[in-house]
Amino acid sequence: MALGASPRPIGLVPTMGWLHAGHRALMARARAESATTVVTIFVNPRQFSEPTDLARYPRNEARDVEICTAEGVDLVFAPPVDEVYPPGFDTVVSVGAIAQPLEGAARPGHFDGVATVVAILFNLVRAERAYFGQKDAQQVAVIRRMAIDLAIPTEIVSCPTIREPDGLAMSSRNVHLSPEERAAAPVLRQALLATRQVWENGERSADALRARMRAGLSEEPLANVEYVSCADAATLAELDRVDGPALLSLAVRFGSTRLIDNEPLG
Ligand code: PAF
Repeated sequence: MALGASPRPIGLVPTMGWLHAGHRALMARARAESATTVVTIFVNPRQFSEPTDLARYPRNEARDVEICTAEGVDLVFAPPVDEVYPPGFDTVVSVGAIAQPLEGAARPGHFDGVATVVAILFNLVRAERAYFGQKDAQQVAVIRRMAIDLAIPTEIVSCPTIREPDGLAMSSRNVHLSPEERAAAPVLRQALLATRQVWENGERSADALRARMRAGLSEEPLANVEYVSCADAATLAELDRVDGPALLSLAVRFGSTRLIDNEPLG
């Protein structure tokens, strides 16, 4: 990548393509805060635990590049797999405790893949800042831990989740939802907001808050719950009581499509 002469600071938006309004918001923020904005588009095979999930991940590089151009991105880096992982590549970046629960437990190896590719991208781009969506709250926490521990100077900027008008969090995976599943999917947001309301009304039992999330999701027959969580916001360990900052999060399958969302408390 010819970044040496590029004006600084550099803002990096790592993506797996199939760009949507959530990515556009990251690019706009990067652009507002940087002299050079770089977007990477790389469907990282190492972060998919299910081969079918990788095979059906949506791709359209030409459209993605158009979106980047419209957003004023200076450089798009879309390497082939063997440029990121050349023959002989044999290193894994494996983050500890913060990567174990929730998505780490549900998708074995996922965060090793994420941390490994993000470390490579950080080293290639050497950006001052990198921008990630809060929808993947655990991913942000894992990448932060990795950057601190490996003394990578890139600052991690976490940006608000961008939503459809009905509350569904923007995700490249939404394209796989059938019309019926798409109509049902806002139940994630509804369950989170209803649970936040219970917390605002004074409930501090994490079991009660998890039960409220499950109850909300159970109203939607197409929603197959994988997990609901009420965890410490810093460690992501499940709580007994919510006495400080916490994170409500959930993973739900609609047919073969898996969606996640979260809501911070406090
Ligand atoms: O969030 C994503 O799109 C990916 O996990 C990331 C951070 C680009 C790493 O492949």
